[in-house]
Amino acid sequence: MHTAELIDFKALVAEAKDILAGNWTGKFTKPAPNLYPHQWNWDAGFIAIGYSHYYMDRAESELRSLFSGQWDNGMVPQIIFNPEFDYNYFPSSDFWETWRSFSAPENKKTSGITMPPVHGFVLQHIYDNAKDKMRALNFVKEMFPKILKMHHYFYNHRDPFNEGLVYIRHPWESGTDNSPTWDAPMERITFDKIKIPPYKRKDLDNGHAEHRPTDYDYNRYIHLIDIYRKCDYNEEAILERCPFVIQDPLFNCILVKSNQALIELATLIDEDVEQLTKWNELSIKSMNEKLWNPKTGIYDAYDLHNDERIEMQASSGLIPVYAHIPNAEQAQQIVDRLLSKSFSGSADQNTYLCPSYNPTSPKFNPKKYWRGPVWINMNWMLHHGLKHYGFTDLAEQLKQESLELINHYGFYEYFDPIKDVVGKEKQGYGSHRFSWSAALCIDFLQDEEDD
Ligand code: DGY
Repeated sequence: MHTAELIDFKALVAEAKDILAGNWTGKFTKPAPNLYPHQWNWDAGFIAIGYSHYYMDRAESELRSLFSGQWDNGMVPQIIFNPEFDYNYFPSSDFWETWRSFSAPENKKTSGITMPPVHGFVLQHIYDNAKDKMRALNFVKEMFPKILKMHHYFYNHRDPFNEGLVYIRHPWESGTDNSPTWDAPMERITFDKIKIPPYKRKDLDNGHAEHRPTDYDYNRYIHLIDIYRKCDYNEEAILERCPFVIQDPLFNCILVKSNQALIELATLIDEDVEQLTKWNELSIKSMNEKLWNPKTGIYDAYDLHNDERIEMQASSGLIPVYAHIPNAEQAQQIVDRLLSKSFSGSADQNTYLCPSYNPTSPKFNPKKYWRGPVWINMNWMLHHGLKHYGFTDLAEQLKQESLELINHYGFYEYFDPIKDVVGKEKQGYGSHRFSWSAALCIDFLQDEEDD
């Protein structure tokens, strides 16, 4: 493996920009050339951060395009469909039947679920990186109410006990789709196979079955969509019928980080922060009281449907450092956990940081999507979080290893975390020329220049 010193930063940034240019559609940037032909919610946010360093028009377009699909109830969908490629991806727009909802927009085709709400902190990056602050301020004025409306949606429709912890109702909403964290709740989903609407997967045309979720997963993904359709996308009805209702620490940490960003941005545009501050304090308190696990040094998930804790073995439970949710002592425990075998591997199974799932678990799979591989966005959030708590070397290691993986294997969607496997030809999986790997690489290297 090349050492960090041998990386040609300029060449890497040039290639990253070329990837974003190649995935640009005229209105937004696809997450990947073929596998993901539409606009995806949190991808758009990470992509905008990359653009904000050199192409402000496009950074703004990402958010504008995404929020053009915002529902009346405030939800920002996981996918805004690109009509040109609708049938190159499954589930296509008509499969979602979002016309059943009173809230879905009439002039945009979208899916009927959401994703981790990165947009508050993305807006802050756009403002901070802008050279033309007047223009950036206008953009903040334009986007702030839309993002705030999305936060209202979460606290009003996804927090049934007013705990400040919002739930996800589909594994795709977590962003970590097939993480073993969801295995137990997914196993409990029982349904009559004959009654799942007929469908044909398209992801396997452009992705390797060994690296993608299984048909078992897809049957459950589709069954859940069918429930939403039958409930006409009414959130109260869905909450009653949906077997998958989970408070995820990654999702809630991202919401907190965006609350905080909105609170800071509000002072620039004279917006009231009382509601945001209340939500935010409650979310942090509940993350620490309900989801923190002092025995294992990680934030767990909570299954509201079964009223039970899901012990976390995924990197999602470490990410709350990014929103400064843990105190110093908890942050030290998180670092100990990150450095233990359950993320850093053992002598015979040395890993790149940070595997998305515990490499010593029987459920770990180094090639399969969110069941083990390293993801650049997770490393980026961990890097910033650890830096905040003063774990400078570890933060630096996360950044360097991300750059090394990209430099050596290419701008893949995810990477095998196991080091030095003899005869391994490939370390990067999923789609190549993956947009957020490119965008966050640009941000990492910008950071290099600023440091
Ligand atoms: C996919 O199609 O695999 C996406 O991750 C869903 O958001």
